[in-house]
Amino acid sequence: MSIQYNERDKTFTLHTKTSTYQMVVESHRYLLHCYYGDRIEGQNLSFLIQPQDRGFAANPPDAEGDRTLSVDTLPQEYSTFGVGDFRESCLDVRNADGSVAADLRYSEHRIYKGKKALAGLPASYGDPEQVDTLEIDLEDAVSGVCVTLQYSVFEEYDILARAARVSNQGAHTLMLDRALSMCLDDPLPVQKDVITFYGRHMGERNLERTALRHGKIRVESARGASSPHHNPFVILCDAGATETSGACCAFSLVYSGSFMAQVEVDQTDSSRFVMGIDPQTFSWELKAGEAFQAPEVLICYSTNGLAEMSNKLHRFQLRHLVRGPYKTKRCPVLVNNWEATYFDFDTEKLLALAEAAKEVGIEMLVLDDGWFGRRNSDTTSLGDWFANTEKLKGGLGCLGRRLRGMGLEFGLWFEPEMVSPASLLMDEHPAWCLKMPGRANATSRSQCVLNMGLAAVQDYLFDCMAKIIREADLAYIKWDMNRSITNAYSDELPAHRQGEVWHRYILGVYALLERLVQAFPELLIESCASGGGRYDAGMLYYSPQVWASDNTDAIDRLAIQYGNSFGFAMKTMGSHVSVCPNHQTGRTTPLTTRGLVAMAGSFGYEMDLTRLDAQEKRQIKRQIAQFKEQWAIHQLGEYHRLTDPRKNHWFAAWQVVSEDRCISLVTIVVREPIANPPVLYVKLRGLEPTGVYTDEQGGRYTGAALMSAGLVLPPMRGDYPSVQVQLRHI
Ligand code: GLA
Repeated sequence: MSIQYNERDKTFTLHTKTSTYQMVVESHRYLLHCYYGDRIEGQNLSFLIQPQDRGFAANPPDAEGDRTLSVDTLPQEYSTFGVGDFRESCLDVRNADGSVAADLRYSEHRIYKGKKALAGLPASYGDPEQVDTLEIDLEDAVSGVCVTLQYSVFEEYDILARAARVSNQGAHTLMLDRALSMCLDDPLPVQKDVITFYGRHMGERNLERTALRHGKIRVESARGASSPHHNPFVILCDAGATETSGACCAFSLVYSGSFMAQVEVDQTDSSRFVMGIDPQTFSWELKAGEAFQAPEVLICYSTNGLAEMSNKLHRFQLRHLVRGPYKTKRCPVLVNNWEATYFDFDTEKLLALAEAAKEVGIEMLVLDDGWFGRRNSDTTSLGDWFANTEKLKGGLGCLGRRLRGMGLEFGLWFEPEMVSPASLLMDEHPAWCLKMPGRANATSRSQCVLNMGLAAVQDYLFDCMAKIIREADLAYIKWDMNRSITNAYSDELPAHRQGEVWHRYILGVYALLERLVQAFPELLIESCASGGGRYDAGMLYYSPQVWASDNTDAIDRLAIQYGNSFGFAMKTMGSHVSVCPNHQTGRTTPLTTRGLVAMAGSFGYEMDLTRLDAQEKRQIKRQIAQFKEQWAIHQLGEYHRLTDPRKNHWFAAWQVVSEDRCISLVTIVVREPIANPPVLYVKLRGLEPTGVYTDEQGGRYTGAALMSAGLVLPPMRGDYPSVQVQLRHI
């Protein structure tokens, strides 16, 4: 059992393979955090907490003159506001009388094998022999609020899944003004960095590393989606941590709505990390007897640097978070018609594209935006989920049959959460749209947002989508979401409960996704939000693949894919080869480079294949054959970032090592050619030091030579050339 409770010391100890997490119930029943770090056996670590009178800290009524007892200075396992802790609160409870306070004390706990699902929310899962769970109840005697802290330990992966459930066991209705998922107080003075991922549409997931400082460093989204601007994936690591050394700890929120993550350094240099639903867009009424479940955070620990941390997360996601056949099965190689045709297509054009796709070895045609209602631009028809038979003669069923007749699968784009003001749906159900009384809606991309919290909206969308999935026998859907939420208001809720609309919205999205997953277990769902605007662990529970960016430029993708690789399995990252000059940047890159960059993720094409010349056709055929042969190494193997795009402007390199460790593929892409260059080399990883490796040119190297001295890059000239070096362990 990876969880131990020591009755004498009153300590809870959670062990993973290489880490230890310990808490203690102190004599006034406060649950304090002792330690989270490298594995330590058989030790009460509460000596790390050194209570002191820090001067003017608030003491609880039962302190009996002990000025060292204060929630303001002791490391809390779950922080609250109102009774003395002035650091960031996890829980703000507004009592029936208007007071805002909760004084949480330990009451009881349970330890069991396995892990329960979180009602209505995505979460990690595992069998009883793979995961153990601890639940600790903390209670506030006055309000009757009870917080159940949930800890599940996936020992083998060095992963803890944390969440919190808040229940009202009192007699009065309470309001939660915030209910975060977790708090991690480190009682020791910090020497740490925080790594976050910022971005924008077409420029997602840029890594930013900052030394912790006094005060608060916070990333958040109040957009109703996790957003391209900040990602709910954050790393705390030793100040000197590198890819291969130093302690690192990743926090991945399993949630797709507005979030916040913050690290704070206080007066005594100790730190507090909190993560959960963004308090700015949240409040929740909790009647007597009701409970609120906050989303899960996956916490991954590594003693040996960032690469080990990412690889543990990658493996874990594909086994304990992603569901369905595509967890480990190869996703079909697809062609998406978006950059090939945009809105200008008809059945004949699509069939010509399909014909060309089939010829080069593509397995699925995805019909993107524009197939429904009167949608010939992005200004109309969202919500009218029936085929435009002027464009698609014979409808979707007929197109599906013809594609299958050619040996191709059929995939289709939806943007279920949205409605165009110019649509039949808006005419028929104006009340289904999020809208504030007396205030006209802000539009974005000419669209409004449906109130996904309404059962009628979910039912309508499920019926439309299920009908089309059956009729066209779809193997895939692309679930898009192309705007941030404004005017969040629901006519169904009274004024004092409008703070629930945002979270109810995302619960509605999850409910609809779950219905689809249950009704169509074989269906592949690729999630998208103007590219990587909702790339988070929550969506991975429903969609094994996420469209990483609307920017398909291979050189820009290097940084986007580098950023994503820290927190997300490469298999989950949708990545396509597109035409040149690239539609987003105007840049021209070789087809080889576009292919190799796309092969790092779930591979496909997004270009008019009917315009290929014979040589391009041959090259694409070879690319697809290469991907089909190598996909398991790229997507299930161990991944190594060999260069950092912020530091190396000359070239980018990454490496994958097959699960059986026999093959290693190294991809190098030149970003800037250099005249009269120095010897360019890159140090490899994950090889057997004494093993011998051969490359395709007959070179022989020991693993030690490749890892300690390095692989010398072949001469590469011109604009953005690239090469894949294949090393075989002999
Ligand atoms: C978003 C998506 C694109 C494409 C368009 C269609 O921008 O990210 O991939 O589907 O919508 O309108």
